[in-house]
Amino acid sequence: MKEKVRIFLPEQKVNARIEEIAQKISSDYAGQEVHLICILKGSVFFTCELAKRITVPVTMDFMSVSSYGNDTKSSGVVKIIKDLDESIEGKNVLVIEDIIDSGRTLSYLLDILGKRNPQSLRLCTLLDKPERRVKDVNVDYTCFNIPDEFVVGYGLDYAQRYRNLPFIGIVEFENEQE
Ligand code: IMP
Ligand code: MG
Repeated sequence: MKEKVRIFLPEQKVNARIEEIAQKISSDYAGQEVHLICILKGSVFFTCELAKRITVPVTMDFMSVSSYGNDTKSSGVVKIIKDLDESIEGKNVLVIEDIIDSGRTLSYLLDILGKRNPQSLRLCTLLDKPERRVKDVNVDYTCFNIPDEFVVGYGLDYAQRYRNLPFIGIVEFENEQE
């Protein structure tokens, strides 16, 4: 199978929406500090662009959990590959995710983080595919709701490729013979 990537959300549109969400976060956390938790690797680009635009004091940490492997289907298996470096006790934690699909990864993660006594725990995602939800997750900030298509770019991958695309694209699969 060969694949093609079609532009779905151009860079300018993504950045403009990130700016809006950053302003909303800055006003919601006014007078407080926000601790961003970037979920590796997909959320790296989004976390950086968002963090640069937040005007309240920001601290950051990184976590890695297993999700799909090199396929486009969920395995349903969620495992911590890299835990946080610092304690989140008493902090205003904002988890930054690239995309919420079935919701399995995030519902598991929020459960674990909630038990570590943060002062508050919220979730911000670049993309959401609400149609695909299997596990309920409360999303506080969503940049874009998208249809049930496999997307790449802006940190998102297909078999570890395309993360560096500056836009969000839809992957179109085609037969090599065609
Ligand atoms: P969930 O547990 O099904 O919500 O899966 C979330 C994770 O699946 C994301 O953090 C991504 O790593 C991956 N994922 C889901 N949909 C896509 C997609 O369209 N493109 C790339 N990765 C995806
Ligand atoms: Mg991810």
